[in-house]
Amino acid sequence: MVFRDQQITPQQQIDFSRRFGVLQIHVLKQFLLANHPEILIVSNIIENGQNIGLGDAGKFWHSDLSYKELPSLGSMLHAQELPAEGGDTLFADMHKAWDDLPAALRNAVEGRFAAHSYTARYSETKFEGNWRPTLTPEQLAQVAEVVHPVVRTHPENARKALFVSEGFTTRIVGLPEDESRQLLGELFAHSVLPQNICRHQWEPHDLVFWDNRSLIHLAAGCPAHLRRKLYRTTIQGDAPF
Ligand code: SIN
Repeated sequence: MVFRDQQITPQQQIDFSRRFGVLQIHVLKQFLLANHPEILIVSNIIENGQNIGLGDAGKFWHSDLSYKELPSLGSMLHAQELPAEGGDTLFADMHKAWDDLPAALRNAVEGRFAAHSYTARYSETKFEGNWRPTLTPEQLAQVAEVVHPVVRTHPENARKALFVSEGFTTRIVGLPEDESRQLLGELFAHSVLPQNICRHQWEPHDLVFWDNRSLIHLAAGCPAHLRRKLYRTTIQGDAPF
C-alpha cells in the first residue's frame, strides 16, 4: 500500500506502525534513529566518514527478518530523501509464485523446511560505497539460524505462499547440499519472474506498507553519489506455518 505525501514525524510513523503489532528492533544498533530505536535508517549517505544508515538494505530479494523465529508481518518505509535517478523498490508476489509453481517443484518442496540466516550474505557487497559493520558476539547470538516451512499459509487469508529468498534462505533441510542448492535456485528464479513483480518508484514523503508474509522485496539501487534516505519500521508477525 502506498500512502502519498505523508509529512509525518518519526514518532507518528512509529505510532501508526504499532497499530498493527509489536515493533522489531533491528540488530544493527548503529543504524537506528537516535531516540527512536524502532526506526532503522536505510540510507547510502556518508557523514563525517560514517554511513548514517544501512546503505545496502535490500540488496538481495528477501522478506524482512525471515531469519527470526518470529519474522515480520509487514514493514513501513517512509521516504526522507530521494535520488534523482534510480532508488526504486521491487516487490514480488509469493502467493502467485506458489500458485504458478510447476507441479514437479511443488511436490519437491511441499512439507519441507528451509534454513534462514542473516549472516548468509551479510558481507557480500553490491552497492558501491557501502560497508557492513562486523557483528559482535552479542549481535550474532540474536541472529542464530532458524528453520521455517518452505511454503507458508497466510494467517489472515489462508492462502499459501512460497517463503524462501536469495537473501536469507541457505538450504532446504534434509536434502543433499547440491540438490538443495539446485532446488533453491529454481525457486528463487521462479519467484521473481517479471509477471510476479511490482516496481515502486518513490515520490517525496511516500509511506509504503507491505506484507512480508506475502511478498519479497529488493532495493534496485541508485548511483552512489546520489543521496537516498528512508525510515523503516518493522512489525513482528507470527511463527510461519
Ligand atoms: C529494505 O529492504 O527494507 C529496504 C528496501 C529499499 O531500500 O528500497
